[in-house]
Amino acid sequence: MTSVVVVGTQWGDEGKGKIVDLLTEYADYIVRFQGGNNAGHTLVVDGEQYIFHIIPSGILYQEKTSVIGNGVIINPEVLLHEIAELNNRGLPITPERLLISSNAHLIMPYHQSLDIAREASLSKGQKIGTTGRGIGPCYIDKVGRVGLKVGDLLDPALFKAKLEAVIDEKNFILTRQYDAEPVNAELVIEQFAVFADKLAPFVDNVSIVLDKARKAGKNILFEGAQGTQLDIDHGTYPFVTSSNTIAGNACIGSGFGPAHIDEVIGILKAYTTRVGEGPFPTELPEGDIVGDTLQTKGHEFGATTGRRRRCGWFDGVVANDAVRLNGLTGFAITKLDVLSGLQKLKIATQYQVEQKKYDFMPDNMRIAQSVQPVYEEVEGWAEEITDVRSYDDLPRAAKEYLKRLEEFTGTAPAIVSVGPDRDETLLLRNPFEK
Ligand code: GDP
Ligand code: IMO
Ligand code: MG
Repeated sequence: MTSVVVVGTQWGDEGKGKIVDLLTEYADYIVRFQGGNNAGHTLVVDGEQYIFHIIPSGILYQEKTSVIGNGVIINPEVLLHEIAELNNRGLPITPERLLISSNAHLIMPYHQSLDIAREASLSKGQKIGTTGRGIGPCYIDKVGRVGLKVGDLLDPALFKAKLEAVIDEKNFILTRQYDAEPVNAELVIEQFAVFADKLAPFVDNVSIVLDKARKAGKNILFEGAQGTQLDIDHGTYPFVTSSNTIAGNACIGSGFGPAHIDEVIGILKAYTTRVGEGPFPTELPEGDIVGDTLQTKGHEFGATTGRRRRCGWFDGVVANDAVRLNGLTGFAITKLDVLSGLQKLKIATQYQVEQKKYDFMPDNMRIAQSVQPVYEEVEGWAEEITDVRSYDDLPRAAKEYLKRLEEFTGTAPAIVSVGPDRDETLLLRNPFEK
């Protein structure tokens, strides 16, 4: 039995979906443990693209079990839509292939309305640039002990009582504070009764299932969403998401014991992107020729909202934060192919503000917004590398770049990705093979 956690090391969209799909070949269970449909994980197999927002990225393998843990928040309509879409593409989703924790919280219609209304009410500089999927308001209710859970769907009387206990307050805030439309509780009850019937066969106790799997010697792969700098505790607060995105939450968000985790692989884009507001020290402004090249060549548009992703040089400070916060045992370096054709590459090794130097992201946002990166310049390579399948065949400068990242972070790449497709990958060390 081996269990491997995969997490994003930057601000999300590092290519977690692709790497999870790739590693699923060696796993039996694939587990999402936090976030909701703010995530957009892209897989490309034999040229065909899939984008998953809630369903784990292991779902393309018929014989594996995908699991949605208690730490995930679920919009049932979006989940059912994703299931229906897979069915339409000839991948029937049966309860043998997908399990949903009864303890996962539900994203309710008022969560999404509140998210959108709150963002709209904020002034520039205060906006977070959320995905508008109701993530923050849903996690607020979970921590505030007034959330509705997947398990409540199976108990109509309890569901109704819990909804009625909160709906007046939600509608008061929506209408009085934000001048937004109220939510009709009767309609929600009717709509969610339909969702309940459809989802009931998938609901289970995920902690017990994973414990049995572990004891039976099965391999388990945990799929993080978002990225380390979006973590609610350790990220660039308040410009973060509302869950813990780091590896420690794989255990909390699924009910799996920490002593059973063997490997933590950090997905690290060969440069940096961010979508939404907040500090980004190595950002290249729109109009910068390198920034625009990364954006265009890397197709840097959000997989969930379609927003243009901000782009910048590789940030070693962010990478080292991720090594520490997640206890990384290896990297999967993605999108190395996007750097082909750039003569010089820059790596941020520190931040500076006035005379003070930082080796970590400052937790004071005023400082984090004003730091300047200290760069080291290395040679680029001209050759396209998407067809390369072995480390030795990479251009010399690409190998030097990878070596420098390894040396700077003290963490070796286990995987190097040179294109979006499952096959466009160099597997240097398989984390499932001890
Ligand atoms: P995730 O949220 O971490 O799963 O990442 P996204 O799917 O949001 O964004 C990553 C994008 O990069 C997707 O469009 C992937 O298909 C694509 N991608 C992943 N790895 C590579 C790679 O090595 N090279 C290139 N060119 N694209 C990649
Ligand atoms: P994946 O899993 C990139 C960002 C949003 C916003 C902030 C808060 O695909 O890497 P939220 O809706 O969560 O309250 O938004 O977090 N964000 C992401 N950025 N990738 C993601 O997921 C993200 N999920 C949330 O853009 O800045
Ligand atoms: Mg994404």
